[in-house]
Amino acid sequence: MLSNAAQTLTRPRPVHRILVFPRHESTARHFYQNRQLELYASKEAQRLTLRQLVFYGRHMNEERLIKSANYVRTELPVRIAHRLRDLQALPYVVVTQEGVARVYELYWSAFEKFRRYPPITSLSENEKFCEFVGGLLNEHATVIPNLSLGLSLSSPYLAPEQLDSVMRRMLISRISRRVLAEHHIALTENFMGQREKQLIGEPHVGIIYTGLKVKKSIARCVELLRQRPTWVEDFQGEEIHVRHWPEVIVDGQLDTQFPYIKEHLEYIVFELLKNSMRATLIAHQGDSQLPPIRVTIAAGENDVGIRISDQGGGLFASEPQIKEPADLFSFSHLRNATRMEHSRIGALRSASISEEGVRATVDEQVHRWNHVRPHEMRISKTGIEIHPRIGIGLPMSNIFATYFGGSLELVSLDGWGATCPKPDGPKTDNCAGTDAYLRLLKLGTNLEGIEV
Ligand code: COI
Repeated sequence: MLSNAAQTLTRPRPVHRILVFPRHESTARHFYQNRQLELYASKEAQRLTLRQLVFYGRHMNEERLIKSANYVRTELPVRIAHRLRDLQALPYVVVTQEGVARVYELYWSAFEKFRRYPPITSLSENEKFCEFVGGLLNEHATVIPNLSLGLSLSSPYLAPEQLDSVMRRMLISRISRRVLAEHHIALTENFMGQREKQLIGEPHVGIIYTGLKVKKSIARCVELLRQRPTWVEDFQGEEIHVRHWPEVIVDGQLDTQFPYIKEHLEYIVFELLKNSMRATLIAHQGDSQLPPIRVTIAAGENDVGIRISDQGGGLFASEPQIKEPADLFSFSHLRNATRMEHSRIGALRSASISEEGVRATVDEQVHRWNHVRPHEMRISKTGIEIHPRIGIGLPMSNIFATYFGGSLELVSLDGWGATCPKPDGPKTDNCAGTDAYLRLLKLGTNLEGIEV
């Protein structure tokens, strides 16, 4: 049964009208609830920079911690209200798609809970508040697969630009809310001396590592990727047995460090390396040697650049006859045909009802590989259990990269590869490579994306 809030969303309504009252007797309540929503949605989000988050958290005392709690308490409902309004403005055919009403309901419930949460005035109240926020963070773990499922299914009914801009706002805003919530919880744990929960190792303020070592994060991602099951899926969905993983060579300015959220950097690097490894294995099946993947770190004055180069067949590898590569960041099937594929929709459907949802840290992803539930598996023709590929890694990486003003670009290099013939030699299908360019701003002075 959908709640009243979700029913509001799923009832037919005239274009440009937002208030629809599902039952006569609940009209007054809905009117009141929507008034509240209007009130919050009319406020502007108080966007922050990474530097502000570090500076504020660096010298913590009781008063500052309580102020931080109240900022989260009052800021999150504003950000959620903006996204609820976005969902309400979608055409009816979109909001009836599987997954969308579930997200709406989760957001509505979180909005109401935050709105009603009383001001925090003491450390013990703050601890309770952190428990409350931690509970919501868990409850919202399935938002991404639900949203991706719903919007992928809506693809035939929405223009690609509209679909991608709604999805982008939903995802940026979600990252922003989780950053604020997780940062405050980490500040509290540090302040309260809950050592077992503290981030260990490198210096940090809340969830931000003040001198994040890029080479170390890359090495960690490589190590975690090598712990994966010993096969990958090819473009036809069949498994390729992995005898050895491609070598990853890291060069450039190896001692680069900068203030950043480690989970965000590692999510992106992990995803890019995962794709490069898979592409290399597919393009070089049966070859006695795999060409290495090269990761180059560059520390510019204002930014940190990471280039990941492979010789795995390039961006056209799965469809060599196509001349325009799919937009891998897009959720529209017109820009990326895989969005409506049966296996992808099935994988999203499983993830959207699993308790774990989709986790944002690489450790959680590895954990999921090792503990994926039987009903989420697909059996290949040769009897191997295949993990679901839900196809949100690259769009999410793009969102993580741009959240504080960075960028992510993928470039296909035709004719670049270990097995490429000489320019005048015969053409081969996999004679190409891909370069991924990640750029993250170093000074932390950019505000969070406008869409929060
Ligand atoms: C989300 O994960 O979508 C959130 O909005 C989290 C927030 C309620 C703490």
